[in-house]
Amino acid sequence: MTLTVKSVARVSLVSTLVLATVGAAVLAASPASGAASTLAAAAQQSGRYFGTAVAANKLGDSTYVGILNREFDMVTAENEMKMDATEPNQGQFSYGNADRIVNQARNQGKRIRGHALAWHSQQPGWMQNMSGTALRNAMLNHVTQVASYYRGKIYAWDVVNEAFADGSSGGRRDSNLQRTGNDWIEAAFRAARAADPGAKLCYNDYNTDNWSHAKTQGVYRMVQDFKSRGVPIDCVGFQAHFNSGNPVPSNYHTTLQNFAALGVDVQITELDIEGSGSTQAQQYSGVTQACLAVARCTGITVWGIRDTDSWRASGTPLLFDGSGNKKAAYTSVLNALNAGTGTTTPPTSTTTTTSNPGGGGCTATYSEGEKWNDRFNGQVTVSGTDNWIVTVTVSSPQRIIATWNTSASWDSANVMTARPNGSGNTFGFTIMHGGNWNWPAVSCRVA
Ligand code: G3I
Repeated sequence: MTLTVKSVARVSLVSTLVLATVGAAVLAASPASGAASTLAAAAQQSGRYFGTAVAANKLGDSTYVGILNREFDMVTAENEMKMDATEPNQGQFSYGNADRIVNQARNQGKRIRGHALAWHSQQPGWMQNMSGTALRNAMLNHVTQVASYYRGKIYAWDVVNEAFADGSSGGRRDSNLQRTGNDWIEAAFRAARAADPGAKLCYNDYNTDNWSHAKTQGVYRMVQDFKSRGVPIDCVGFQAHFNSGNPVPSNYHTTLQNFAALGVDVQITELDIEGSGSTQAQQYSGVTQACLAVARCTGITVWGIRDTDSWRASGTPLLFDGSGNKKAAYTSVLNALNAGTGTTTPPTSTTTTTSNPGGGGCTATYSEGEKWNDRFNGQVTVSGTDNWIVTVTVSSPQRIIATWNTSASWDSANVMTARPNGSGNTFGFTIMHGGNWNWPAVSCRVA
């Protein structure tokens, strides 16, 4: 209980401070004693990840791999999973470089963000000249084949990348894919869900950081529409490529929070900020704090390791210099992650509970219990029978760790079966949420 009160107090503080205040403490040379000393470990304290883009041709560079293995727990292939890399000739798939990245990451216990299944850019030559039904089918086949090949190995897929126009229209970008019909995005998401039901499915874009921009609003309306119609979307990726012409907006936290409120996770997927020294460090800590202040911001990925690895190398936009030394920006992110532990905001409510889908005289109703930084309690009340079997299904990375007033068993696939144990028809459980605050799905049948 004390923990709850404490965390709420810190939340409001952080919300107020996000992007507005970055004191000298954030730029201290080393983390406070007892704090985590790597980006991944610091992010894990609040159930988040800290990732990087990886290029296959750098996996032989020992400095690069040393930093990768030490600091990051999520990996995105920078180019190797894109359409031109994975299907260079129609119907012929090529996974060599992508597999090198996937295998390296998995061998080190890291997770993988898949990037990207469908995109107007970096299409193979054969696709660039296609249109109409042939292109739609080729795109769907690509999504199906690639997502199936990596089934079970991908934490989240960027199913569709950069489909909205820049500027004031708030509408879709013109492209050969868009010209196949406005429903191409939802068709891609449905194909991806069928191919890999366990992966989170994301829409990913850039220049969607400022809440008041038309492009941000356009993407928001699409996600809202998808959620209302049951199109399978789980997350929105914010690329977050910043520089002096496109600085971190002061309303960044608002943007992340508003998208999360639609019932999707949000992730910062390609972060880089051009600049140097304390100015760059302050912007990095601001972005980190904005994510930490949104419960459903599940992680941050930077778009490369050393400045020299960046697609914008001349802008020195990353956390390590060309020699692999930690920059002030690194320390500011690490300190923000350490300071931010426990600042996640428990939502007041998420999805509505399910009750009895099968009929037969029983209903199970879920209600929220206490919430802490790393776990929450839930309670189910059964009516209609005293002889019930209730199934409680949590979603990854959630884990059920305890139950009371029931005789229950659960498996590693996140499904718990609960039966009466003589304590009545209300029972409870504790879920380690890992950053996922979704309510469990609950159903009931008569034994
Ligand atoms: O590998 C070839 C090399 O053999 C050739 O000599 C050289 C010169 O033509 O090109 C090399 O390929 C380049 C590739 O990066 C690998 O370095 C491509 O030309 C170049 O276009 C490609 O750029 C990538 C860019 O996406 C393409 O759009 C960047 O590395 C990559 O960081 C960037 O990533 C994108 C995200 O996917 C989406 N969001 C924006 C982000 C930054 O642009």
